[in-house]
Amino acid sequence: MNTTFKEKIETLKAEAQNLQAKNAEELEQLRQKYLSKKGAVTALFDEFKLFPKEEKAQWGASVNQLKQQVESRISELRDAVTVHCASSTVNLDLTRTPDPIAMGTRHPLSLVREQIIDIFSRIGFTVADGPEVEDDKHVFGMLNFAPEHPARDMQDTFFIEKAEGVQKPTDILLRTHTSSVQTRVMTQWAKQLADSSTHQVPDSLRVLCPGRVFRNEAISARAHCFFHQVEGLYIDKNVSFADLRQVLLYFAKEMFGPETQIRLRPSYFPFTEPSAEMDISCDLCGGKGCSFCKGTGWVEILGCGMVDPNVLESCGIDSKVYTGYAFGLGVERITNLKYRVKDLRLFSENDIRFLQQFESC
Ligand code: DAH
Repeated sequence: MNTTFKEKIETLKAEAQNLQAKNAEELEQLRQKYLSKKGAVTALFDEFKLFPKEEKAQWGASVNQLKQQVESRISELRDAVTVHCASSTVNLDLTRTPDPIAMGTRHPLSLVREQIIDIFSRIGFTVADGPEVEDDKHVFGMLNFAPEHPARDMQDTFFIEKAEGVQKPTDILLRTHTSSVQTRVMTQWAKQLADSSTHQVPDSLRVLCPGRVFRNEAISARAHCFFHQVEGLYIDKNVSFADLRQVLLYFAKEMFGPETQIRLRPSYFPFTEPSAEMDISCDLCGGKGCSFCKGTGWVEILGCGMVDPNVLESCGIDSKVYTGYAFGLGVERITNLKYRVKDLRLFSENDIRFLQQFESC
């Protein structure tokens, strides 16, 4: 019998029972002393491997037992050291209020939408809402779109339920613009006016309709299949184009700074007559011309015009008594101008690194 080997095992077993460690460092020293490559237990195993077969059978169980003993003692000590550290060095106070939760930040599109609403609400505009899933009648028909207008084509509009062949007022689609809310608001107001003997009805309409719109476009840095608009509408007696221009000038200065200039270019929309597109002076070059404004000194920000009498009538409003203006702006467009975001896709990817760059709530 190999007495020295036996003695070595017995000695180490006895040592294992009395191992002590006060902290993680001492524990690591013990692990190295016994279990590392050069440790005492490993050395015994190295010796054991060289034994002839019969002796291996004789010693195998004892060597394994020793290893398990050392490992379990070290593991016991590790638990003790961990608990000790937690209660003594980390000053655990279970009654403390938790650390403040990291607050999220507002989405840039929400920030800009709120700013637009704030600017217009200071001059009496209130907010109206309408459905994103709409019918053809409210998105196109009542807004004076001709039946064959290309915007109604499958290429631009996401249809949900569509009759065979020609468009039907009852076709269901994702709204392509927030102008659809105009028709709902005007129709409701006209009904209230007609019924005004029973309750008080405001004598003019002044609303903003913010919301998401959808178009069947390939997604790229400059186009997306959904984006956000804010529609504005004012209906009253004697509303003129001058009123529209002045309100838009006020908006441009509030949004982009008091130096901002505007210009209106003639344009065409089925629901306004006359129609215009509005540019603001480029704030990057101060109107001198740069790559951002393509050398023109101006950047386009919205479409607008006087509400077409056909639209008023389709909503039940007497176009001989009332006139009005409307405008529609893209929230992404305004946000790009304010923050110079070059890729539209960033707005919907929810990358925290992008979103955290804007104001916190
Ligand atoms: N609905 C138009 C669009 O989506 C924007 C627009 C233009 C709205 C002129 C208006 C307007 O109210 O008067 O492109």
